[in-house]
Amino acid sequence: MQYQEIDTTLHDPSFADALIAWQKQHGRHTLPWQNTRDAYRIWLSEIMLQQTQVAAVLGYYARFLERFPTVHDLASAPVEDVMAQWSGLGYYTRARNLHKCAQRVVAEYGGVFPSDPALLAELPGIGRSTAAAIAAFSAGARAAIMDGNVKRVFARVFGIDTYPGERRTEEAMWRRAEALLPAEGIEAYTQGLMDMGATLCTRSSPDCARCPMQPRCVAHATDRTKELPVRKPKKATPEKHAAMLLLVHDGQVLLEQRPASGIWGGLLSLPEVAGHVALDDDEQPDIDEDAVARAVQPFGVPESRERLLPVTHGFTHYKLHIVPLLVTLAQRAPLAGDGRYVWLDIGEIGQAALPAPIKKLLLELLGNRADAQARMF
Ligand code: ADE
Repeated sequence: MQYQEIDTTLHDPSFADALIAWQKQHGRHTLPWQNTRDAYRIWLSEIMLQQTQVAAVLGYYARFLERFPTVHDLASAPVEDVMAQWSGLGYYTRARNLHKCAQRVVAEYGGVFPSDPALLAELPGIGRSTAAAIAAFSAGARAAIMDGNVKRVFARVFGIDTYPGERRTEEAMWRRAEALLPAEGIEAYTQGLMDMGATLCTRSSPDCARCPMQPRCVAHATDRTKELPVRKPKKATPEKHAAMLLLVHDGQVLLEQRPASGIWGGLLSLPEVAGHVALDDDEQPDIDEDAVARAVQPFGVPESRERLLPVTHGFTHYKLHIVPLLVTLAQRAPLAGDGRYVWLDIGEIGQAALPAPIKKLLLELLGNRADAQARMF
């Protein structure tokens, strides 16, 4: 159910008292959609302000009203004219819905916007919060708004430390918003919430010294204005594991040219052991020994084998854990003819066209000790 019963345990008239007193003294009173009960003008402003700042809306708002002074003018205009007036304001679905909404208000309500927020919320482009703002400003209806600014104010004042985009948290905030509505003065209260969010309780530099909520603000008392509201939880970065062969023989390392498309396209890299690397119970890569033997076999006869510690490289969308398998060959087989594989002198690694993490790995494992390695292998 959208409109819930008031939760009286959240009721606290002093919140609204403080907010209304502050709004009257320090809030905004001269915006062009204020000091009127004209629902058409209020509706238009609320739609324009849905995703756009006040400063950007002002010019559009004046021009729009000049071109469409009443809801009848808007409803009867071609949609192209509406779009033209909206051009530059962005989020154009708003303009299409605005036009549809005007036509419905004319057809269903004779051009008079309903004052019941539940009826307003059934019209195109008007959500629960916008419906409440229109009903409050145009008809003094006691209805709660809940936009990004209000969520930030609530998260801080009440110390709500779960993500406001999460359904449970949002529902709890709506319940609180309903419970805190004043018995009187809904206009100043609603405007006060908007004004506080826009001018004092800003995202990055809240002006707590001037804030009427400071004495009751949990975030302020616990020094958490920077942490609240909590950010959207990041999805865990996917992790991949790749076993790569570090085949060495006679002071050289075997490299493979990667396919032109995909990561590291066209660069030289270490040959990968085909197949998926499973993780064992300790989350360690579980390398298939047979797959390694099959991967090494075309290049010669192995002498010794050592599994080295994984090296992690962060790509934009995932983390790659490279598990290097150092294999020293006793004897080298002739390379297959397609030119994909090359033996590179270990001393030339620094100049080769290698992906940065592979070059780093090779230089750390082989390059720094090039002389010793050359002697060893
Ligand atoms: N943002 C949304 N509605 C607003 C209003 N009425 N005044 C200022 N900013 C707003």
